[in-house]
Amino acid sequence: MNSRAVSKDGASPTLDELPLRPELVGQKPYGAPQLDVPVCLNVNENPYPPSEQVINKIAAAVAEAGRSMNRYPERDAIGLRTDLAGYLGHGLTADQIWAANGSNEVMLHVLLAFAGPERRVLSFTPTYSMYPEYARDTHSEWHTAPRRDDFTIDPNAARAAVGQIRPDVVLITSPNNPTGTAVNLDTLRTICDVAPGVVVIDEAYYEFARAGTPSALELLPDYPRLAVSRTMSKAFAFAAGRLGYLAAAPAFVEALRIVRLPYHLSALTQAAARVALAHAPEMLAKVDQLRQARDDLAEWLTAQGLLVAESDANFVLFGRFADRHAVWQALLDRGVLIRETGPEGWLRVSAGTPSEMQAFKEALVAVLNSRVERA
Ligand SMILES: Cc1ncc(COP(=O)(O)O)c(C=O)c1O
Repeated sequence: MNSRAVSKDGASPTLDELPLRPELVGQKPYGAPQLDVPVCLNVNENPYPPSEQVINKIAAAVAEAGRSMNRYPERDAIGLRTDLAGYLGHGLTADQIWAANGSNEVMLHVLLAFAGPERRVLSFTPTYSMYPEYARDTHSEWHTAPRRDDFTIDPNAARAAVGQIRPDVVLITSPNNPTGTAVNLDTLRTICDVAPGVVVIDEAYYEFARAGTPSALELLPDYPRLAVSRTMSKAFAFAAGRLGYLAAAPAFVEALRIVRLPYHLSALTQAAARVALAHAPEMLAKVDQLRQARDDLAEWLTAQGLLVAESDANFVLFGRFADRHAVWQALLDRGVLIRETGPEGWLRVSAGTPSEMQAFKEALVAVLNSRVERA
């Protein structure tokens, strides 16, 4: 079709009438349903909002930033990156930190810099469902290798997959989404030892890991092509603020600066995130409670005779159902929204407040009692 064509009635064109890249034809925008229901346990948010005190401080900092709204923001966000380095510890400094609008954007920067046409991206499935989209959007080849049945990564199989695929970028989620599985450091070392390109460990849920679970940050001094990404969207209760970040060698960060859009992080985002970081203990205050809610939930689901994946995140994957969509829908009909994701037959539910957990349990009991078929 001629690119100047418009729909027959002369109004604005339909999507079919636009010269979309062929690989995007028929694709839907990514995103879990955002439904107005009483109990939302579908996107692994922290269910507790910040305190009034922090909200007021964020409002004051944003108002102050508003005084310079006519000017572009500080392009390299040095103040924010210094604060993030301080939060992570491990002797990290601002030049080892990169920040963007959510770890989604951080990961896109990684692929823009290190993947691309005729380059390969590898992840271990089941894995975070956005990764193939980043690969598609950067014209990179998407490859996967399976995890074991218990969702752990077999280091020998991983070594073999890396040897065979020779990926330019390896993406590993730990704790994994959608399974909750933490990957041990020995396995990560095995992969870093053989990876010919860069390796990113996505630790979006790290703060929820059980006490003593080591972070891949410990490996940074040994592997100059390793990056560890985090987000303020989950444990930090800052999902609407949109702030993700990673730690890596300064040269790795330099590479990301080449592909970022100029002034990608608004002054308002930087100001709000810095206030949240200055109140880190308070923002993270509910993490212990959410870890407990996750463990209680896993125990309860097991007691219902369901399969439950061991989780170090703030959600639990459970199953298996012959028709998981029917279970998801039946829960939604009872006002409880969870996520239909992961391997066939499984569902994922986020840890919530005590009343949300109670509502979920009551709804699920009602659904199970309706003689739903298990797989
Ligand atoms: C594994 C993983 N990485 C990254 C993200 C994206 O987080 P952000 O809100 O920082 O873009 C998510 C969000 O669900 C996630 O589960």
